[in-house]
Amino acid sequence: MFDTMTMTKAFGAFCGAFLILLLAKWAAEGLYHVEGHGEQAYSIEVEEEAGEAEEVAAVPFEEVYASADAGAGERLWRQCQACHKLEDGANGTGPHLYGVVGRDKGAVGGFGYSETLASMEGDWTPENLSGFLESPRDYAPGTKMSYSGMKDVEDRANLIAYLATIGG
Ligand code: HEC
Repeated sequence: MFDTMTMTKAFGAFCGAFLILLLAKWAAEGLYHVEGHGEQAYSIEVEEEAGEAEEVAAVPFEEVYASADAGAGERLWRQCQACHKLEDGANGTGPHLYGVVGRDKGAVGGFGYSETLASMEGDWTPENLSGFLESPRDYAPGTKMSYSGMKDVEDRANLIAYLATIGG
């Protein structure tokens, strides 16, 4: 009949089978989780892509500006037209932008600037304009210019190149 040895073996075999079952279940869950993690892996990729985009944006503005396309910038001017005119002295919601590249900041006569703009030092160099247009609120906290910003450095360079062809 069953001696202790056989009993032990049988018990061992049972345990082994149970263990294999557990392992199989665990592996299956593991696989399932791997699939589930697919989405997470994707979002990490997106973050990495965003990082790359930042690197692209980190190309010095001057370099981009050196090969800017004023013609492409003219098309972007539409985003400013609602509030700005390019004729000398023609102020609207915003001050006229005739000759704005190189112009003193906040210096158009007869335009009611915000405290921020009125007290800003320096000229609108292409670099300064780029900083302002990227995010008016960050560059000039408290500005009245309610424009969200032009994030693309090439777009800014092109638009500023266009503005540089007007007056000055
Ligand atoms: C919704 C209206 C609005 C839009 C759109 C807008 N601006 Fe303005 N902008 C203003 C106002 C208002 C001011 C004055 C800001 C202040 O006094 O704080 C201003 C100020 C400026 C100044 C500073 C001028 C100076 O004399 O110091 C520049 C440069 C400028 N805008 C460029 C642009 C460009 C380029 C665009 C298009 C990409 C644009 N703005 C879009 C309303 C606007």
